[in-house]
Amino acid sequence: MNCPSVTQPAVLILLGPPGAGKGTQSRVLEKAFGLIQLSTGDMLRAAVKAGTPAGQAAQAVMETGGLVSDDIVLQVLAERMADPDTGRGVILDGFPRTAVQAFALDELLAARGQSVGAVISMEVDDDTMVARVSGRTTCTKCGEGYHDTLKRPAVAGVCDVCGGTDFLRRKDDNADTARQRLDTYHAQTAPLIGHYQRAGVLQRLDAMQDIAAVSRELERMVGSIVRSRAP
Ligand code: AP5
Repeated sequence: MNCPSVTQPAVLILLGPPGAGKGTQSRVLEKAFGLIQLSTGDMLRAAVKAGTPAGQAAQAVMETGGLVSDDIVLQVLAERMADPDTGRGVILDGFPRTAVQAFALDELLAARGQSVGAVISMEVDDDTMVARVSGRTTCTKCGEGYHDTLKRPAVAGVCDVCGGTDFLRRKDDNADTARQRLDTYHAQTAPLIGHYQRAGVLQRLDAMQDIAAVSRELERMVGSIVRSRAP
C-alpha cells in the first residue's frame, strides 16, 4: 500500500562553541523562515531569574562554565517543546550538548513522528570565541545581541530593534569563565559533530566570517532544507 507523503516541520540544530553566533543567527532564521528558536541557555537563565527549583540548581553551574545536569535541561526543553508553536519547526540553539541529550532528543522527536533534519556546525577558533563573548551585551527589552566592538547599535546606547536603552552583560561572559566554557565544549559537546556526521545530517559552516556573511550562508542552507519539507 502506498502511504501518503507526510511532511515534517524542520528541526534544525545550531551546534558550536560559545560565541559561534548561534543566538545571533537563530534570530535571523526565525525572522526569515518563521521557525521557533529554542535556546536552553535562555530557558535556564529564565528559570534562574524566576527562582524555580531548576533555576536554583542551575545557577552555580552556569556561573562557572560547566554544564547543567541532563535531567534539568531535558525537563525545561520538553516543557517548551510541548507548546503548540513548536509545530512550525524549531532551531535548537545550545542543545544538545551531551550524548545523553542527543539520544533523548531523538526519542522526544520520534514520539512526535519527527527527526533531526539538519545539524549545522558553526566553526570558529578559540581566541575569536573568547573575544566575542567577552564583549557581548544584550538588550533587556527584546533580547537583541550586541558587542562592544563587533556589533554596535546604530545610535550608541539605543537598541536598533526596539529602541530599548537597557543592556545586560551576562555573568558568565568574562574571559576566565569563557575559557572554562570552551573546555567544556571541547570535552562534552564537540564529539556530537562526529555523531551527527555519521548520521548523515551534518553541514559545516565557517562562522569566522562577519555576521552578514554567516547569515547569508545560513539562509541559503536552511532555505533548501525548509523548501525540501514544504508540502
Ligand atoms: P548558552 O546561553 O547556550 O551559551 P553558549 O552556548 O555558551 O553560547 P553563547 O550564547 O555564549 O554564544 P552564541 O553562539 O549564542 O553567540 P552569540 O550569537 O551570542 O549557555 C549558557 C550556559 O547555560 C552554559 O554554559 C551551561 O552552563 C548552560 N546550558 C545551556 N544549555 C545547556 C545544555 N543543553 N546542557 C547543559 N547546560 C546548558 O554571539 C556572541 C557575540 O559575538 C555577540 O556579541 C555577537 O554580536 C558577536 N558575533 C556573533 N557572530 C559574529 C560574527 N560572525 N562576527 C563577529 N561578531 C559576531
